[in-house]
Amino acid sequence: MQQEIKIRIDYLKKEIIYHDNLYYNKNSPKISDGEYDNLVKELEFLERKNPFFLSRNSPTQKVPGYTSKLFKYVKHSSPMLSLSNTYSQEETVKWCEKVEKNLNDKSIKFIVEPKIDGVSACLTYVGGILTTGATRGDGKVGEDVTLNIKTIKNIPHRLQIDNPPSFFDLRGEVYIDKLDFKKLNEKILELGGQKFANPRNAASGSLRQKKLQVTSERNLRLFVHSFGKIYGRQFETQFDFLHYCKKCGFQLQDDLKICSSLKEVVDFIDVMISKRNLLPYEIDGLVVKINNLKLQKKMGWSSKSPRWAIAFKFPAKQATSILKKICVQVGRTGVITPTAIFEPVTLAGVKISRATLHNFKEIVHLNINEGDTILLERAGDVIPKIIKVVKKASIGVFATLQNCPACFSKIVKEKEVTYRCINPECPAQFREHLIHFVSRNAMNIKGFGKALIDQLIKRKKLQVLADIYNLTFNDFIKLDLFKEKKTYSILKAIGESKKQPLSKLLFAFGIRHIGEKTSEIVAKKFGNMKALLKASVEDFTKICEIGDVIAESLNFFFGKEAVHHLIDSLSNVGVNMIEDRKEQLNNKLNNKVFVLTGQLKNFTREEAKKIIRSFGGRIRSYVSTKTDYLITGSNLSLKLEQAEKLNIKIIDEMEFIRLIER
Ligand code: IVH
Repeated sequence: MQQEIKIRIDYLKKEIIYHDNLYYNKNSPKISDGEYDNLVKELEFLERKNPFFLSRNSPTQKVPGYTSKLFKYVKHSSPMLSLSNTYSQEETVKWCEKVEKNLNDKSIKFIVEPKIDGVSACLTYVGGILTTGATRGDGKVGEDVTLNIKTIKNIPHRLQIDNPPSFFDLRGEVYIDKLDFKKLNEKILELGGQKFANPRNAASGSLRQKKLQVTSERNLRLFVHSFGKIYGRQFETQFDFLHYCKKCGFQLQDDLKICSSLKEVVDFIDVMISKRNLLPYEIDGLVVKINNLKLQKKMGWSSKSPRWAIAFKFPAKQATSILKKICVQVGRTGVITPTAIFEPVTLAGVKISRATLHNFKEIVHLNINEGDTILLERAGDVIPKIIKVVKKASIGVFATLQNCPACFSKIVKEKEVTYRCINPECPAQFREHLIHFVSRNAMNIKGFGKALIDQLIKRKKLQVLADIYNLTFNDFIKLDLFKEKKTYSILKAIGESKKQPLSKLLFAFGIRHIGEKTSEIVAKKFGNMKALLKASVEDFTKICEIGDVIAESLNFFFGKEAVHHLIDSLSNVGVNMIEDRKEQLNNKLNNKVFVLTGQLKNFTREEAKKIIRSFGGRIRSYVSTKTDYLITGSNLSLKLEQAEKLNIKIIDEMEFIRLIER
């Protein structure tokens, strides 16, 4: 038995050291944070039960971290340690109760702060001047990244205060905003590089750069959260310390809360769990600290972490699973998109079992195949993605497709990435085409959902697009769930949709490379369908917003005989073929549906509504599948929960302003 325990302990130590190296050194973790924490927990448990196997070199006795040979070393003024973790509100409350008991004080105030998912840094100011910036390294010695730190825009090079402390050793988290992270990955992909798996890795990789230009371009930021040695200034509480930092020129987080009771701690955790996705940066939990610094000192430190603080970790946003199957779906334009189906896992509280693989290059890039163990992540918001394969089941490569899975005709490969079914009669393409044609931003036929389309196709009532406009009362009344009222309302919606402007019809056609914006530009320039049908490639390229690819695509589309038939048949049933060329209102919000919740900081409700309307958006008072955006202020509500359930985009005021700015 003892022998078995020793073997397990050695195995866990080796695994933890291996994953520490991947996480801290290579910025490329292979397991989720939760799985890593479980390894550490198990090792701690075994060492506690079997203390004779505990050695000084165990990863449980050290701060995980790493110093590379790229940078000079810096010794920290006092160790930069880690935090102990809890994974539930109950555990966190138990920890608070333990603190109250140890200090024999039931009136202790706790400060709760977001736990930023970035990389730790230590900044030393001597006489108010930033002299050193360092990474955490192994906790005692870090890497000298002073010059990189100095490129971070929200870090003052000189403390903006009279009589600064003679020595001020601050600790904070360097991070990258979700939006900047997205832009960075897009840029990296454009240049053919390997994207970062998450904002933490991006922050760490960007800080530890030999080329300062790279760090400086990455838009890193810092939040101060703690301190090492300070000479020449004393603080009573963590809150006082943070506010002093603000006066010195640092940015403070908005979401700090001093809690006078354990209930307040729990309530604030609840608030932050709902707010997490709305923050512009990633947080992976909350840190609960004793606010009073004297009491902190009384509680002291263990070899690895302070006893005056605890991290409450959010449910994991990463998890591993086994890939069961790669399914392929045929889209409207015939493009075949692979989707991964995996063993169900719970990610950030939501059970998921599928994720898009985007295209076949992604399959090659991930080197992924059925049976492999994959690392999944729900980054920032809702859509799950596969980060990497962590364990291959075989050396096999996903078999290349030869035939369309819907109509079995031969498929063509384009630009190494795209597989396309070019059969114009492919039923899967037709179904997708119908879905797009009736959708809100196209012909906007309310109530014409996928289930209805499937029923009508099955009854052979929809064989070409124009059939939509020949459907009769009798066709609907026979369908599942259709009674008189619903039938009249769908017939009315079909009739209404005939009045859509030419731009909407153009977009509804789903012409390659022609999105909503281009459709509008083209419709405005030509004014009616007749003019479009007569136009040449040159006529299209005369429009300054239109390049060769779009012009060729339009010309190709309007040159097809089948398209002429389609247009004739739509025109015969009364579909509008004209664009109103009067200058429209500013239409940046393009009929998008907004719901407002909570109190807004920058506008009153009425002001916000006016702004949305003036930019062409619409307001609704409740969240439904038709909502495009939920704008949230403070005071979280049921609407937020509903929006999360329905995968509606949730934005705050700043993001709303950015929508209009763009
Ligand atoms: S207090 C012992 N407060 O989390 C150091 N840390 O997992 C006391 N972190 O190394 C740190 N946000 O880099 C503290 N509000 C916050 C934090 C925070 C992020 C990081 C920090 C620490 C790591 C521990």
